[in-house]
Amino acid sequence: MSEAAKPDSERGSGRRSAPPVGHDSQQRWTAVDEYVAARLLASDSALESALRASADAGLPAIAVSPPQGKLLHLLARLHGSRTILELGTLGGYSTIWLARALPPGGRLVTIEAEPSYARVAAENIERAGLGDIVELRVGPALEQLPELAAQEPPPFDLVFIDADKQTTPDYFSWALELTRPGSVIITDNVIRAGALIDPECEDPRVEGMRRFHELLAAEPRVSATTIQTVGSKGYDGFTVALVTPGAHRS
Ligand code: DHB
Ligand code: MG
Repeated sequence: MSEAAKPDSERGSGRRSAPPVGHDSQQRWTAVDEYVAARLLASDSALESALRASADAGLPAIAVSPPQGKLLHLLARLHGSRTILELGTLGGYSTIWLARALPPGGRLVTIEAEPSYARVAAENIERAGLGDIVELRVGPALEQLPELAAQEPPPFDLVFIDADKQTTPDYFSWALELTRPGSVIITDNVIRAGALIDPECEDPRVEGMRRFHELLAAEPRVSATTIQTVGSKGYDGFTVALVTPGAHRS
């Protein structure tokens, strides 16, 4: 009999190390994130104050987790990104992680639709000493992106999409316009606790992520994958897309 087929009273007997997924999964995911952070993430006053100031100002606690922030930072460094575009600044927590990955002369443009969030972000970015590297643009991304494009910036090396979820497919199309073959486009919150594949779920944010995957499936200019994640923010995931020269996919 498989473990899953056993009654609760028998399941897992003699195996104490890894209980089956259940109601305490979230606590465990959070505790593991804390374990990782305590060992691999140096304590950092600018990042910690950014989270505190965001909470004090009443921003929703939906910034990337510390291990995720460090992943973004490492991906940008691995890639050698010199220019980064972020959609959805919130309080600037991921902005700080990403901007710190830039080499001297690098720059980051971040767009935030909500002026009250942007005010908190600007202070957090300034406090982190990144005010000269980061350009914070305030307004809906679908208004800011055409304005940004009209300024004909050099292609961005990395784009992080983490704004309103229903508009993600449009943001991705804009990201393609503003990048070059070799650029990377990372998108947050693409799994939504598995609702992505739940036909009963008609949440427009989830539908946005379905349309995003259909767009990726049909797009010859990218090679992409989606990774499911668990952690202090629950069960979700992100997509990493490499912009390719076109025609071929792999
Ligand atoms: C939400 C938004 C996010 O970007 C995130 O990472 C988690 C949750 C939200 O709007 O609920
Ligand atoms: Mg997010």
